[in-house]
Amino acid sequence: MCGIIGYTGKSDAEPVLVEGLRHLEYRGYDSAGIAVLNEDKIKIHKSTGRVDTLADICKNSPLRGCTGIGHTRWATHGRASAANSHPHTNSSKTIAVVHNGIIENHTELRQFLADNGYKFVSETDSEVIPHLLDYHIKSGGDFKESFLKTVRELKGSFAISAVCRDAGDKILSARKGSPIVIGEGEGEMFVSSDIYSISDKTDVIYVLGDNEVAEISRDCVEFSDFDGNKITKTPSEIKHNSYLEEAGGYDHYMLKEIHEQPRILKSLLSGEKTLSDIKNTPFLAERVKRTDKIYLLGCGTAYNAAMTGGIVMRYLCPVNVCAVMASEFAGGFYDVDDKTLVIAVTQSGETADTLSAMDFAAKRGAVTVAITNTQYSRADTESDFAFYTRCGREVSVASTKAYTAQLAVLYSFGVFLCNCLGGDVKRAEEVREALLKVTADVHLSLGLEEEMKTLAGHYAGCRDIYYIGRGSDFVTATEGALKMKEITYIHSEAYPMGELKHGPIALIDRDTPVIAVDCHPDLHIKTESNLREVVTRGADAVCFCPDGITHNGVRCIHLPETHWITAPFSSVVPLQLLAYYTSVAKGCDVDKPRNLAKSVTVE
Ligand code: AGP
Repeated sequence: MCGIIGYTGKSDAEPVLVEGLRHLEYRGYDSAGIAVLNEDKIKIHKSTGRVDTLADICKNSPLRGCTGIGHTRWATHGRASAANSHPHTNSSKTIAVVHNGIIENHTELRQFLADNGYKFVSETDSEVIPHLLDYHIKSGGDFKESFLKTVRELKGSFAISAVCRDAGDKILSARKGSPIVIGEGEGEMFVSSDIYSISDKTDVIYVLGDNEVAEISRDCVEFSDFDGNKITKTPSEIKHNSYLEEAGGYDHYMLKEIHEQPRILKSLLSGEKTLSDIKNTPFLAERVKRTDKIYLLGCGTAYNAAMTGGIVMRYLCPVNVCAVMASEFAGGFYDVDDKTLVIAVTQSGETADTLSAMDFAAKRGAVTVAITNTQYSRADTESDFAFYTRCGREVSVASTKAYTAQLAVLYSFGVFLCNCLGGDVKRAEEVREALLKVTADVHLSLGLEEEMKTLAGHYAGCRDIYYIGRGSDFVTATEGALKMKEITYIHSEAYPMGELKHGPIALIDRDTPVIAVDCHPDLHIKTESNLREVVTRGADAVCFCPDGITHNGVRCIHLPETHWITAPFSSVVPLQLLAYYTSVAKGCDVDKPRNLAKSVTVE
């Protein structure tokens, strides 16, 4: 996902922009650039690769000036190249623009501009913006008027920031779909795609709404709609999380974030947030009572959390609940009406598939609840209710602490539903008891780290790995396989254990290790026979199961004794560690795997 940063104030812009881009790296990108306004010129540095490369270019040829914009680009239209990276300018370099999102009518606009003599130097949709701005300025408008005209003509989703040589220290920004926030400092102002990249600079932010424009200069910020009508906005205060955002002595953010899980779960599952409700707002309770179906939506890891949440909710109450991949939901394959409750799980709160599924549901009268880690994200602001996982910024692209934090909120939600819908009180008590042990369980699972580090050497050379499990153990196996594939690039697939023999077992031989998850007391016998099927076909199998459980011919790695319903918290941890150490053994880029973005803001 692309990232935008902007600064205007009393200090040199360059270091602020480069630092801001570093904070945005977690979103995933393949090129970066900055533009700085210096008296009568706009100077630009941009390059493919890491922000470090850009920083080296700036070190060799510093850009002086107190107003500027920066961008990290995750290629959508046009390959990763210096020419395609942002900022983009008009031909006389009096205007510079950075953009996040997609300009759907860029082809017609490009044709119109070419017909009016404009030349393009990139393959991107974004480059139409500075030329269109230039066209309107040359037609007699000032910077603001021309900017408003331009954004009114753009179709699609975008967050844009622009500077103009003749407009002094002003930065104009517009939002239509992709998030953008304004940070207010002392004699300086900031623009960013998310609060994280400026939270060390200011506590005071304004969240730009859709079809809104912000005009900032060092001492002033004004808002309007796309027609120029003034808008008054009240600032919000950023609540800083106590979790350090530095790697904190770990070799990678992912390992730090795996180790943060017990502390985060402790704060989510104890203290003021009792399990009987999570902000038991009467409206939500009332709305839930009118519900006859619940959908849990998410993508990737968030979908895996949604699947486990669905199992827990069905265990606790007589409710028609199912987990659906967000990208499958908006296709109209599901019945949605005003008796529908949609729970959208999304760490970033900006995942396009999830947001469009939420929008699809809301348009049909459903009530939407977001479970997100990012306050002021679109999922937060566009949902009827939002509950926060509050696990601090998750920097590593592979999600770990956000996953178990999502589980914690979903389990609490399950108990909340049980209270609202007259569910099984005895089971709710069971879950409540088991949840109070989760922090200790996860601590114990972290004790498997050395064993996972050793085991990782065994998988680093593999081409295929198969994960199997039943029920919530199948979901844990799916999450383990997702971790392994995304950070080691080893083909890793999860299958429901019973399903293997109906076809996929054709893939099993001595070169395809199998990893099983077996935490449900009623399923150990079935697991024994399914493991036998793969072992007799030569596969090397390991099984993650509670202490005391053994399976013939299979290496059993013992997990803390706990209720099967909360086993997903502690059984996923060794799988996270196994993927991590396998990635390290392979020399992969653990925190920024190839092709991946931390949040995918395109469908
Ligand atoms: C998780 O390891 C992946 N990086 C990815 O599947 C992620 O979970 C998915 O893109 C959803 O992101 P979100 O939670 O921010 O919506």
